[in-house]
Amino acid sequence: MRLDWKGQPVQIRELGQGPAVVLVHGYPLDGAMWSGVARTLSSRFRVLKPDLPGRGENPRPPEGTIDSYADFLQAILGEIPPPAGLAGFSMGGYVSLTLMKRGPGGVGALALVDTRAGADDEAGKAGREAAIAAVRSGGAAAIADGMIAWLLAPGSGQNASLVERLRRIILRQKPETIESDLTAMRDRPDSTGLLSRIALPTIVLAGDQDVISPPAEGQAMAAAIPGARFVSIPASGHLTPMERPGAVAAALSDFFAAALS
Ligand code: MLT
Repeated sequence: MRLDWKGQPVQIRELGQGPAVVLVHGYPLDGAMWSGVARTLSSRFRVLKPDLPGRGENPRPPEGTIDSYADFLQAILGEIPPPAGLAGFSMGGYVSLTLMKRGPGGVGALALVDTRAGADDEAGKAGREAAIAAVRSGGAAAIADGMIAWLLAPGSGQNASLVERLRRIILRQKPETIESDLTAMRDRPDSTGLLSRIALPTIVLAGDQDVISPPAEGQAMAAAIPGARFVSIPASGHLTPMERPGAVAAALSDFFAAALS
């Protein structure tokens, strides 16, 4: 799909046919993190895996706010037939929750994948500042090893081809885009109060070894959203869509098939 976004053409990668499902990536990544999951989902759905501004197929300079990323997603949703499924991974979940604050806007079912509703605490904000300083002086390479260790469960860290694919995605991100993501996440508001008002079928997924969005937070989110279900992804850290694409695709496929039919 081609979208005209703030005067620039943006290509949105898509595959398959059926009800639309939009997959939103996390930090410091791009839409390719969803490739394995997207391939499986594409047997039942029209799957879109956009790159948020500042990366890949989306050259528009990023603006450093979750709201500006949500504006971009809203533009995509405005071009596809409702109801669509929306799955937000981690930072993509922060963007999805921001969209939900604006209303369902064509979304018929929501998946929150390894994400959190709370804002950064002071230690979290200090960590963002340190990462911004590191990226300004050393680019993506300065954060790559640390992020790989954070994103993956120790067992997944032994999978050389997974680590290599992940490193390639991180290293191709521009320093200004990484800084935009960090600024956006540092300044994001708390969305906890929104959860009880989400009136869409919702599923919450989390890796059982996720240290960035611990499973207990996912369970608490699911408990706060009326009717939501929590699914634990076994033998996975934070990056469930790349570590366990089969389990994530199976959970999303059954959920979206039931919720969008
Ligand atoms: C992500 O995976 O998108 C980020 O690690 C989330 C975060 O740092 O809060």
